[in-house]
Amino acid sequence: ARKEREKLYKILRMAADFFYRQLHHSSAGKVARDYLRKRALPDEVVEAERLGYAGPEWDGLLSHLKSLEMDPEAGVAAGLLGRSSKDPSRLYDRFRNRLIFPIVDDQERVVGFGGRTLSTDVEGEPKYLNSPETAVYHKGRMLYQISKARQACRQVRQVVLVEGYMDLLAFHAQGFYRVVATLGTALTPQQVRILGRLADEVILAYDGDEAGERAMMRALPLFLQEEVSVSCIRFPNGMDPDDFLKKEGLGGFEALVRGRKDLGSYTIHKTLDIWDGSTAGKTRIVSELQPLFAAVRQPIIRSEYLRLVADRLSLSEEVIQRQWMHSARNMV
Ligand code: GTP
Ligand code: MN
Ligand code: MN
Ligand code: MN
Ligand code: MN
Repeated sequence: ARKEREKLYKILRMAADFFYRQLHHSSAGKVARDYLRKRALPDEVVEAERLGYAGPEWDGLLSHLKSLEMDPEAGVAAGLLGRSSKDPSRLYDRFRNRLIFPIVDDQERVVGFGGRTLSTDVEGEPKYLNSPETAVYHKGRMLYQISKARQACRQVRQVVLVEGYMDLLAFHAQGFYRVVATLGTALTPQQVRILGRLADEVILAYDGDEAGERAMMRALPLFLQEEVSVSCIRFPNGMDPDDFLKKEGLGGFEALVRGRKDLGSYTIHKTLDIWDGSTAGKTRIVSELQPLFAAVRQPIIRSEYLRLVADRLSLSEEVIQRQWMHSARNMV
């Protein structure tokens, strides 16, 4: 199995080199070079991350691997090639007409790729495509740019978590490296554990839209369960970190960080804000907050959160706890 994995690392590295050359030294790569300029990503970042480009043809990488006498089946196992369902002997490039972001593990090995489409036709193709699960790539246990963040977090034990590749690179463009991104999926407990070892505090800097806010609140129970301190910042006008950094720079970001909120308190306040003042509304909100409290393990945090709810709803902490026990009994 070890030998198999070594084979995958090798082919992934070759693919990364291929995509890199396509970006810089092919005429087809012009569309990607223009795109990078439009997105104002500095050359140094493009170079440091070894971004690449996958051309539009169905067999660009496939032909390249064949010309190197590499086994195409290894390309399938590495998640680079897909297999035609009509004719299983037919293989094709999974990444086409995309800007390519190599995903590198702690040992600086390429383990997978993310790819942003450069097609203007928004129908059909997903905006981002990621490597599938392989023997060396487990998206739930990886974070984009973990290796650089690990080095940067040695001094300041605080890490920023963002949603997207472009958001992350916008930080690198500003010389800020204490940042990682999830890879197109919801945050997992394993990722939270990695973050907890990396730093003493995680700052969620998700997109400033509704979806970002929901994703942030969904992440809260994971941090509570793993006992990892988590705070959040919100970007104005639905901006994402990339938009915001372009407009306000690192200084603007640092100001937001100074005003960061504990994610638990933030979520509780947001939930309490929708209270309509009625008794039925109190019951609803108390029951809505139950899963959050079920995830809190540390007594001091639990007590602080409970006081927030009790004060706002003019209830005693004891009554709130009794209400939860009451609903638990009603459920069995
Ligand atoms: P830009 O539009 O290039 O600025 O990207 P973005 O990162 O702002 O995109 P968005 O806010 O829509 O998504 C955030 C992150 O979610 C992306 O960076 C991807 O990792 C992931 N994502 C977005 N769209 C898709 C998709 O269609 N498929 C998958 N698998 N992941 C996606
Ligand atoms: Mn897996
Ligand atoms: Mn978004
Ligand atoms: Mn975004
Ligand atoms: Mn964006």
